[in-house]
Amino acid sequence: MDTLALADGARPHIAIPANCFAETVTSVHHYTDFLFKFRITRPASFRFRSGEFVMIGLPNAEKPVFRAYSIASPSWDEELEFFSIKVPNGPLTEHLQKIQIGDTILLRKKSTGTLVNDALIPGKRLYMFSTGTGIAPFASLIRDPETYEKFDQVILTHTCREVAELAYGEELVDRTINDPLVGEMVDGKLVYYGSATREPHAHTGRITDLLASGQLFTDLGLPPINPDEDRAMICGSMAMINDTKAILEGFGLTEGANNAPSTYVVERAFVG
Ligand code: A2P
Repeated sequence: MDTLALADGARPHIAIPANCFAETVTSVHHYTDFLFKFRITRPASFRFRSGEFVMIGLPNAEKPVFRAYSIASPSWDEELEFFSIKVPNGPLTEHLQKIQIGDTILLRKKSTGTLVNDALIPGKRLYMFSTGTGIAPFASLIRDPETYEKFDQVILTHTCREVAELAYGEELVDRTINDPLVGEMVDGKLVYYGSATREPHAHTGRITDLLASGQLFTDLGLPPINPDEDRAMICGSMAMINDTKAILEGFGLTEGANNAPSTYVVERAFVG
């Protein structure tokens, strides 16, 4: 069995589990005391659909702790990007938040998930509703050409408590629009709508309230969501998912799955 270079807190000679790849951290960026992004090398044989998640861990114990992470990079990317919270005393994130370039990350070989284009029937507009780290799967999907082949307009909403937490999404959309590869495909189709709930911002309030009041549609200059034209994906806390689902169902959308595509799909934003 192979042995690994030491990551933070690692013990020597930890074996790589047979169902994992051992990959190298290539960049780390901290946004706030609670949020950071990192990128790792991508194994040549690791295939995934944009929007899926995978289990990741650190080689710092005989039985490493694994947590589900949405892959934030698109399926064509040479590297893999992840967006993480820092949970105080979190079994994985208390160590993961200290990773540095060159450290080793364990990546399970199989990815899965329901926030994929295949789980939705075609439509005119795709709404992506996210809170907190729930934006991660959409960071993947907004950079995938298939999303723009399937929809004329892609509306990414991201709601956080504080304005600083919106930085990842704002930067991401900016980079995507200005990217030499995907910029042209995205131009005029990708719309970003950020809102903060506990600080003043251009848009304030929970996405559920912005939907229910119609403020979102007024701000975007779009008609209210309707099942003939609109599709949606939701990623956030359990409470946010349930409340958003109820509103979308009120608009006439119905939940889909990989084996039964329909007009909206959901996934819980994972906690590290
Ligand atoms: P709020 O500040 O009003 O609680 P959290 O970090 O708790 O997951 O929250 C992330 C964002 O999601 C916050 O802006 C929070 O708003 C919002 N949020 C929390 N619960 C819900 C819910 N049930 N429906 C819609 N948005 C929610």
